[in-house]
Amino acid sequence: MERRQILVTSALPYVNAGIHLGHMVEHLQTDFWVGFQRLRGHDVRYFCGDDTHGTGTMLRAQREGREPEALLEDMRAEHIADLSGFGVSHDHYGSTHSPENEALVAEFWAALRAEGHIAEREVTQLFDPEAGIFLADRFVLGGCPRCQAPDQYGDNCEVCGATYEPSDLIAPKSSITGAIPEERSHPHLFVKLESFHDFLDEWTQTPGRVPPETANWLKATFLSEPLRDWDISRAAPYFGFEIPDAPGNFFYVWLDAPVGYIATTKQWCDANGARLEDWWCNPESEIHHFIGKDIAYFHTLFWPAMLSAVDYQLPSAVHVHGFLTVNGEKMSKRKGTYILARTYLDHLSPEYLRYYYASKLSAKVDDIDLNFEEFIQKVNSDLVGKVVNLASRTARFMKGEALPEYPVETDGGLFAAGAAAGDEIAAAYEARDSNRAMRLVMALADRANEFVESREPWNLKKDESKQDELREVCAIALNLFRQITIYLAPVLPRFARESARLLSIDTPTSWQDAATPVAGHEVVKFKHLMERVDPEKVTTMIEASRESTEASEVEAAVTGNSPEALAGEPIEAECTIDDFTKVDLRVAEIIEAKAVPKANKLLELTLSLGGNERRTVFAGIKKAYEPERLVGRFTVVVANLAPRKMKFGLSEGMVLAAGPGDSELFILSPDSGAKAGERIR
Ligand code: MSP
Ligand code: ZN
Repeated sequence: MERRQILVTSALPYVNAGIHLGHMVEHLQTDFWVGFQRLRGHDVRYFCGDDTHGTGTMLRAQREGREPEALLEDMRAEHIADLSGFGVSHDHYGSTHSPENEALVAEFWAALRAEGHIAEREVTQLFDPEAGIFLADRFVLGGCPRCQAPDQYGDNCEVCGATYEPSDLIAPKSSITGAIPEERSHPHLFVKLESFHDFLDEWTQTPGRVPPETANWLKATFLSEPLRDWDISRAAPYFGFEIPDAPGNFFYVWLDAPVGYIATTKQWCDANGARLEDWWCNPESEIHHFIGKDIAYFHTLFWPAMLSAVDYQLPSAVHVHGFLTVNGEKMSKRKGTYILARTYLDHLSPEYLRYYYASKLSAKVDDIDLNFEEFIQKVNSDLVGKVVNLASRTARFMKGEALPEYPVETDGGLFAAGAAAGDEIAAAYEARDSNRAMRLVMALADRANEFVESREPWNLKKDESKQDELREVCAIALNLFRQITIYLAPVLPRFARESARLLSIDTPTSWQDAATPVAGHEVVKFKHLMERVDPEKVTTMIEASRESTEASEVEAAVTGNSPEALAGEPIEAECTIDDFTKVDLRVAEIIEAKAVPKANKLLELTLSLGGNERRTVFAGIKKAYEPERLVGRFTVVVANLAPRKMKFGLSEGMVLAAGPGDSELFILSPDSGAKAGERIR
């Protein structure tokens, strides 16, 4: 087999937000493919990095009172920790805010200018006179000009779906300062995309470059009419790269972001004595971008157009995946389904999600749904019930012994059939049809389990005269197990490593290893290779997701970054620091919780405030919480509220909760470590 040289990227995550399980669809899909190509012996490099520029980064750094660079550094460290926590195996994780990127962007710019692809004209935009910046559509709020819904963004109405210009909004205001924006004009620079029309038509419609769904969509939506000029400049202040020949103007983030793919490669090359040209200017080398459908047009129109102006190579393919929904719906902070990678990792094994996503993903652009019931069921029945089971039912009979020569004649052709399936499984991985790859592997596991069941090693064990047969059966089962773990290695690399350790063999480094059985190595004591998913932990994770987003909302309110504060809503009444210190907020432990029978909304809580201090509090959270779930939880109570006589008894305090009400109420909790009775300051 010819050794291919392959460069692979995942889209560069925005620096401004934490990695969530939606991003993980992409990074894991890429990582499966990369792992597979490495196992096939190809020369693969996998690059990614943070996408850093834009008004959002600038405003956030200002709010936090620090330099943007400090923010970037913290977020990058966080992103790297999250992605590597899931076993994503980048060769380098860079950043678009690098000298390498700035130099490369200048190269692209010079080429676009030299070839006459740049136009200049005035653009009239809303301007925030207080902040002194032009407002992108999402920084303008106002009434929808069609349905009058209040507080809609500057480009479209979330209520009626109308699209419009920000200046069409009724009573528009800046979401940054609340100021009334004014119209101002400023010269902008544009890439004349239409001059690439024929090229893009040809390039996108050539089979294999982009998924057929994407090719059709591009044709129908963009390529059937003249392509509009692309506005790539932003007036200062803007966090980004200043345009070399247009001082006071900066490149729009989407111009320098994809160049970041090359810059990241460059950083890796410089650190590893490699040459950038070998990866980006070498027709023998493949380039594969993995992206989500929301950014397809940047990668299939703008990016190839930019590349065609310089001497770097066009991508061999742009692989597009759909969006993640959770339990059938868009990820929701309130429902606890906006799950950060970190929150997931705090509660569950990354391998579960790797397998689950692998079993759901194909080359299609369809959305994929994370359904937690299915997640639990698939992992438990496939990985634990079928794969691990093969080893757990046989390895213990061989503990401390070497595997005998593989008994080819007595395995009913199973190993050979498994080896023969290797090509079909490989073809599925190659085509990014991991769903099919997983189904083929599980079919092998089913057959191997049937074999074990039919030979009943646990009964052979009891019969002195059948110890050789027992060894034979175990050698077969463990070799079939090993074959399967190699096929699963792109998806479950850690599992493959640990399984190899069980058989005292090296971690498989080649797909071909699955075609030859092993013998002569000692089987070590069986340790659990994978535990069943504990449904409790899934519940806890969802709860923790709700809490972490809730905590960030509370924090936003406190720091003045709440949507209301951003929108400049007047705050009702002023509270002096003296007023505030009158409120005695304490950490309380809920030691008892019961429904108040005749009340719709009330739970009766017994709180411990440390020592023997107990309080009875009636809280209107019945629709949001099963009482049992609250016992043992810590929360925050207003401890010096004048006791209130209620119909059902005396309430001696108030528990703090957020949310609009009824089933959507979320009680506040301190981080673990806080003790009952501690004063909140
Ligand atoms: N910064 C740009 C990409 C620049 S690439 C030169 C960006 N960043 S992002 O953080 O919003 O998204 C990064 C990737 O994650 C994108 O490919 C996007 O499609 C993907 N996803 C973000 N949310 C997603 C889901 N809910 N589901 C699946 N993928 C999603 O776009
Ligand atoms: Zn509307």
